[in-house]
This record gives sequence, structure tokens and C-alpha cells, in this order.
Amino acid sequence: MKTIIELIQEELCEAFKKAGYSEKYAKAALSNRPDLCQYQCNGALSAAKEYHKAPIQMAEEVVALLKESQSFSEVQALKPGFINITLSGSFLSDYIGRMAEDETFGCEKTDKPQTIVIDYGGANVAKPLHVGHLRPAVIGESIKLTARYLGHNVIGDAHLGDWGLPIGLIITEIKRRSPELVYFDESFEGEYPEEAPFTISELEEIYPFASKYSKEHAEYKEEAQEATAQLQAGRKGYIALWQHIINVSVNDLKKVYTRLDVEFDLWKKESDAQPYIPDMVKDMKEGGYAHIDDGALVVDVKEETDTKEVPPCMILKSNGATLYNTTDLATIVERKKLFDPSKIIYVVDKRQSLYFEQVFRCARKTKIIGSDAELIFVGNGTINGKDGKPFKTRDGGVPRLEKLLDEVEEKVLEKMQEREMEENEIKDVAAKVALAAIKYGDLSNQASKDYIFDMERFTSFEGNTGPYIFYTIVRIKSLLAKVKEKGIVIDEDAPLEPAHSQSETDVMLSLCKWQDTVYAAYNEQAPHKICQFIYELSDAFNKFYHENRIVNNEDAKVRNSYIKLSRLAGDILGTATGLLGLEAPERM
Ligand code: ARG
Repeated sequence: MKTIIELIQEELCEAFKKAGYSEKYAKAALSNRPDLCQYQCNGALSAAKEYHKAPIQMAEEVVALLKESQSFSEVQALKPGFINITLSGSFLSDYIGRMAEDETFGCEKTDKPQTIVIDYGGANVAKPLHVGHLRPAVIGESIKLTARYLGHNVIGDAHLGDWGLPIGLIITEIKRRSPELVYFDESFEGEYPEEAPFTISELEEIYPFASKYSKEHAEYKEEAQEATAQLQAGRKGYIALWQHIINVSVNDLKKVYTRLDVEFDLWKKESDAQPYIPDMVKDMKEGGYAHIDDGALVVDVKEETDTKEVPPCMILKSNGATLYNTTDLATIVERKKLFDPSKIIYVVDKRQSLYFEQVFRCARKTKIIGSDAELIFVGNGTINGKDGKPFKTRDGGVPRLEKLLDEVEEKVLEKMQEREMEENEIKDVAAKVALAAIKYGDLSNQASKDYIFDMERFTSFEGNTGPYIFYTIVRIKSLLAKVKEKGIVIDEDAPLEPAHSQSETDVMLSLCKWQDTVYAAYNEQAPHKICQFIYELSDAFNKFYHENRIVNNEDAKVRNSYIKLSRLAGDILGTATGLLGLEAPERM
């Protein structure tokens, strides 16, 4: 289904052509003066150059031709050459009626589904998720859901960090504490125990300890580096330990991601790319792309137009060890082989942007990936505390994500205490509302921007917040429940009536932005655009709700039309919040 802007544009095109001007100037846009009109066209201003005419004169000619259109109630030429457009009530209500009948409310599913891999989450084994992991998870999830809504074949991959020094450190520390474990006995031939020699909480204590200790003790660090190299070379006992680390961690990570309602299709790991490294390195060498620099194997990726220094991409260290970029590059090889994606989108902290620039350039230069596939980096900003600095716990550490979830849930629960609900329901609802507070609070900010995590504001039931949005959806749900209760049968065949008031018109105009919102959110990887849409629609709906009798309207036709409009607003709000990875409760 065409967007409303496209329909307006079609009429503009006709008029421009009839008046003797190129239709390329017949561009319609939302009005930036909603007090004057709903849509506008600035084409006459741009056309002036080509036709050597005063823009206002051309605008007037076009307007004269548009006057007969059934679609517009008002078209005006305004100095210096704007065309201001207001839709006729029936044109607008017809359009909304057609949206309501469409499964995706007028959004066109793609006719060329692409395979898209989204690499998001950024978790590492043996380390708990912290606040910094929130953004890539929720932004990536929304990008995934939006692409899928438009019909693409999307594969979300957790791409766990499991292959670097942290694992070597953990192995070294376990060995120091329990040298008698079979994992360290090189002559051991039997089966390793099924049970891990540590719990998740032990693991989470071991890693920071070892990391700190290695910074103060050079020989310990060397030992850990050696353990990492031996692991990567396939030492059996270490592989068995590493497998335990993964199992224990993944179990725990899954719990938190499930709480966040973030669902990966794949739980692949950096190590999964390992088998692709030897051939990749060989190709890089044979292709003449890589050279030895100071013992290390590197690929130059700087370009003449660079304004900042882009260092070479290191593929192998002088001791033959692989690096973070080696696995990322080999993962591209793997993804290409397994899925042949048209796009790989990485949602990662924006502080890794130079790193990804290097990796992308290297992948292109060494022909790991062809020009038919896009590599996209969506760098997310940081979450800051009220002081504007990165979020910290009282003792200066980075807060655990679970802890943050708990705190927000408690806060919401506190606010909902006086609700008349069973204990269980209230808990369930509070968990949903808390998730909305967190995810909406995050997603309503442009991905690349930093933002301040403001507990009071995020959990408020008023303003541009998740709870407010849920409140609006729940309001519509209960309105529809009342319709049912009263035995009102909705006349599905009766068309929507043209709006009776400004507030109703505003609801309709907000709804019309749905398709372009979804397209833009997808094309620009910009979930915040969905939030803007949701907030505007919610506000418009609430105003309409306050100003009008809906269920109790005396006029049965008006009542029917109002109920249908409300239902559509509810459906679209539900779908839109769904694209953010949120699901509203039945009541709250
Ligand atoms: N685990 C990494 C980190 O903690 C983030 C992974 C991002 N994705 C990637 N393909 N490099 O920094």
C-alpha cells in the first residue's frame, strides 16, 4: 500500500506536469508548520532556477490545478513559494480504513528478502553482563525484529567472547588454586568429569581476581598467555575446562537475556571461527595482502583520504597467536560460507568504531567479502549516571545488568503497590513495566548518543516513557473490553467516518506515519524513530480519549467509528512496541 505522502505526491506530480514543470519538483513532506497545514511541497522554490520564474507564481499555478482535487480540503500557495496542503476528511479516513484492513497496516513487506546477520549483545563468557551490555542487546533486538517485520531473513547471533586472554587467566588461576585437577595432568587419558569444577559465582570471582593479579605479576600474566596459546593450539585438558566455562556461563547469560526478552537465533562464539583461520591467513598471504611487520602478520588498511590514522590490521602476533580481529575476520568467512548474507550488522559500543573500520576495510581488501554484501557498524553510546559519567556502583564498579533490572522492578512495584491485583499478577505486570521503562528509556535515545539513566524519569507513568506507552495501550485494551462487556457489536462494514474534531484528525495523521516510520527505522537502523512515532501517537490518542465520549457516545455511527479508530491505534501501538521487543500487559 502506498504511503499517504506518495499519494499526495502523485497528485502533485499531475499538477506540476500539467502546469508545464518537471515532476521531479513535486515532492511532498510533512508540514513543519502543523498549525498552518498538514503537508507541504517546497518544489516551486527549487524549480525557480530551472524555469527562471518567481516560485510563488509557479506555486500558484500548481495550486490552481489542485483546487479540484477530492483529496484536499485546502491547498494554498504561500510566499515565497510554499504549497500548503490539508487533506480532506474523507480522504484521510478512507486511507486509515484501508490501513486497518491490511495485515501490516499498509507496510509493504519486501519483495526481495535479504539474509541479514545481526551481531549483537557482546557478552563474554565467565563475566556477568553489566550495564554496558544493555544497549547493544536492546538495540540489536529491535533492529532484528524490524527487519523481520519487513520480511527479511534475519539471523541474530550472540557472538560470545570466549577465545582470548580471559580464558587463559581463568585456567591459570584454577590451576593455582587446584593444581591436582585432572585438567592439568598432561598424561591423563580418560574422560574428563561432566560436572564443572566451579559454579557461576566462583567463575565470576575468579576472572576479576586473575585479571587484577596478572596486572601486578608479570610471570602470572605470561603463564596466562601461554595457557591461552595452548588452549588455542588444542591442549585437551584446557579445552575441557574451556568447555565447562562456556556451559556454565551460557546458562547464566541465557537467564539474563531471557529476562530482557532478547532472543538470539545463534549462540556462536569467537572460537567457532577458529577452523577458518588457517585458510584465511594463507589466502591473505598468497593474495599479497598481508606482510610481516616486526614479526607480526599485518594487512595495511589506511586510505589516502583518511583524516585520522587508521593503523594496520594485525592478523597474527609474532608468536602466532590470533587476535580479536582475527576471529572477527574469520567469522565473516564463516558467515559468508554458512549464510551468504547480504548484510552483516554489528551493534557494538561506539568506542570500537575504529576497530570495525579496520576489520571492514581488511575484509574488503582481502576479498573475504564482496561488494554485494554490506558491512554495517551501529555504534552505541554509553549509559551514564546522573552525574553524566559512565554508570558506576557506589564502590566504583560497573553495575551488573541483573542488579539494574532488579532495582527498576522494585521501583515500579513500589509505584504499583496500591493496585488491586493479586500478588502474582502485580509481580508479573511490574516486570513487564520495568522492562518497558528500561528498553524504551534506552531506545528512545538515538543509538549513537550517550544518555543518562534516570530511574525516576524512566519509571514515570507520564511523559515520554515506557510505562506511559504501556498505560496508553492498556487504556485502549480496557476500552475494548468495555465495548465487549456492554455487548456492543462493532460494525466492521461501516466505513470510518471523516474525523469530527482536531484531536481525532491528529490521531489519524499520526497513524499515517506508521509505514514511513518502519521503513526509516529499518533503513537507518534507528529504533528511536519507532519510539518517536509511538509517543506522538500515544499523546494524540490520549487527547482524543479525554475530549470525546467513545464507548458511551450517543450516536451509534460515531461510536462505531471511534471504537474502530481506537482499536487500530491500539493494534498499531502494540505492533510498534513489539518491534522494540516489548509486550504490554492486559492491565496495569
Ligand atoms: N565481546 C566483545 C567485547 O566485549 C564485543 C563483541 C562485539 N562483536 C564483534 N563481532 N566483535 O568487547
